[in-house]
Amino acid sequence: MSSDINTRKDISSQNDQGARAIRVVVAGPDGRMGQVMVEGLPKHDGIEIVGQLRRADREQRSELLREADVMVEFTGPESAPELLFEALKARTRPVSGSSGIAESVLVEADRMAREYEIGGIWAPNFSMSSNVMMHAVAMIAKYFSTVEIIEAHHETKADAPSGTAVRLAEIARAAHEADLKEANVRHEILPGTRGGSLGGVHVHSLRLPGDVGWHDVVLAAPDGFVTIRHEDSGSREIYVPAVANAVRKVMQPDVIGLLRGYGSIIGLTS
Ligand SMILES: NC(=O)c1ccc[n+]([C@@H]2O[C@H](COP(=O)([O-])OP(=O)(O)OC[C@H]3O[C@@H](n4cnc5c(N)ncnc54)[C@H](OP(=O)(O)O)[C@@H]3O)[C@@H](O)[C@H]2O)c1
Repeated sequence: MSSDINTRKDISSQNDQGARAIRVVVAGPDGRMGQVMVEGLPKHDGIEIVGQLRRADREQRSELLREADVMVEFTGPESAPELLFEALKARTRPVSGSSGIAESVLVEADRMAREYEIGGIWAPNFSMSSNVMMHAVAMIAKYFSTVEIIEAHHETKADAPSGTAVRLAEIARAAHEADLKEANVRHEILPGTRGGSLGGVHVHSLRLPGDVGWHDVVLAAPDGFVTIRHEDSGSREIYVPAVANAVRKVMQPDVIGLLRGYGSIIGLTS
């Protein structure tokens, strides 16, 4: 480990206790989430934005990262892996909100963070209420034989299903410790009508005009069913306090490795 890097980052950690602000670089500052972070994070005590990292800044990327204690990253699953690895190499703690990052990337990022003895977090959903929904599904899914998920987002969303829907399906499957039993639809008149399946949990994506964002988890048993619905407030600003929380969390000296999910910060298991 370069002693130069080590010294600067350690000083910054000490300053987190008092005098100096945590220095943040925002990757993807012109994106929908990035813009909100650039605008909102400096309003939180002890956080300052010291850099903005755009795709075109390839040459200056490692220098920009070295100047910061934390990289806040909302660029998407294709760009995020390289940014995560480069931030960690610069000993800059990642706070990553990109959905759909591959498991192998997260495992490697965790390994690197442990090697460099720094923290980081990947949270595909920084909304407290949706993390509570995931926690609820983790607790009750085992009581139901069938789980299906319906999600709706704006028509310009590039990926389907949402990262949150995938996570909900994983959670329901994990709660069962086996794939769920799927209904036997022998004749699917329109191909794809039953949606995608993850571990026997069927996921259906709606793409609609407007700033829509909701998830329904339908849990069914022979004696009835329960639906849990989470609806976004429609505002991206609501994510800023949670990201500020995460920025502070990853600066704590006892946080080593890559935390998974915003729930891990607020005391929820999923
Ligand atoms: N965790 C959460 O709570 C949460 C909430 C909302 C969204 N998200 C996720 O956050 C991600 C971004 O969402 P968004 O709606 O903000 O997307 P967006 O509006 O498309 O913004 C992405 C931005 O990242 C930039 N970018 C891409 N690759 C880059 C790179 N290598 N270096 C620097 N900048 C780069 C893009 O620039 P170009 O124009 O040059 O491509 C764009 O400005 C998605 O994965 C989304 O699912 C997470």
